Amino acid sequence: MSIVSKDISKAVDLLTAEELVAIPTETVYGLAGNIYSEKAIKSIFETKQRPFFNPLIVHIPSLDYLEKIVAYIPEKGKLLAEAFWPGPITLVLKKKTIIPDIITAGKDTVAVRVPNHPLTLELLNQLDFPLAAPSANPFSSISPTTAEHVETYFMDKIKMVLDGGACKSGIESTIIGFEDDEPIIYRLGSTPIEAIENVVGKIEVKNKKEISPDAPGMLERHYAPKTKTILTRNLSKSIEKHRNKRIGVLMFNDILNDDVIQFKIVLSEGKNLEEAASKLYDALHQLDKQDLDIIIAEQLPDYGLGKSINDRLERATK
Ligand code: TXA
Ligand code: MG
Repeated sequence: MSIVSKDISKAVDLLTAEELVAIPTETVYGLAGNIYSEKAIKSIFETKQRPFFNPLIVHIPSLDYLEKIVAYIPEKGKLLAEAFWPGPITLVLKKKTIIPDIITAGKDTVAVRVPNHPLTLELLNQLDFPLAAPSANPFSSISPTTAEHVETYFMDKIKMVLDGGACKSGIESTIIGFEDDEPIIYRLGSTPIEAIENVVGKIEVKNKKEISPDAPGMLERHYAPKTKTILTRNLSKSIEKHRNKRIGVLMFNDILNDDVIQFKIVLSEGKNLEEAASKLYDALHQLDKQDLDIIIAEQLPDYGLGKSINDRLERATK
């Protein structure tokens, strides 16, 4: 029997019984458990085979809930939460002691967000605890953007995927921490830098190795297909190099046809970065199923969500 279901009350029952449920968000599906249940949280790490040093994001129902779990909110943190929640921004803030150490890998900060998905907001409102939820994929593989992706990964390991359809944004939340009350981007994501700068002014990005291995999103190889994948600025040149292989191609818009390409996915005919982000992971899942020798991915323009997509593609090709 399928573990995919739209039944919120069943999700409430399972989560209350310290079981895991995969939940839809606007970014990717999360593998959720009660933050106060050691059993559930351990099970998240085991199910994903995620190392314990990687802290989890806590999902809360509203901005009002924030003060229950964090000790201090910098002014610019407030501005960001007011501007973007519910939505794909995660804030890393000083935690209150009520947040168990296993959630934060012993750090004194907690990552928190209000996800923007009607089913999951409804679920969070019905529960009397927040949900810890990393992306619902085995450690370092491609993140799931449909209930079916999660089912394929965890069919035998979890009891339920709450089906909220395909994720609208399609890449993970942008993570923002604070140093001396100034916001810093720790992980590029679904909220473009330009939108964030409109709210808090110029912002520094420490997305790469500087803070590794703070965050799995920071690990060099991540979001990765099993098939060898390369990233290129020049598709035809890269295709030329691999002519003798079974080639799959991921391109931004439809710029090229070549008989040697076995399987091709175009992210956005109209060159729309939001559309491209929403399709990215499903495209990688599909390409990975085609029994190819190599996936050649085209680098996207380096602005707006293009930056976040390129970040994921770089890590997928490490
Ligand atoms: O869009 C998302 O953020 C999705 C959905 C399900 O909400 N979640 C997600 O979780 O991407 P995950 O576990 O795959 O990535 C969480 C990131 C990791 O890079 C983790 O290290 C970082 O958040 N993180 C969590 N707590 C942190 C903390 N206290 N300080 C710094 N980074 C933290
Ligand atoms: Mg992840």
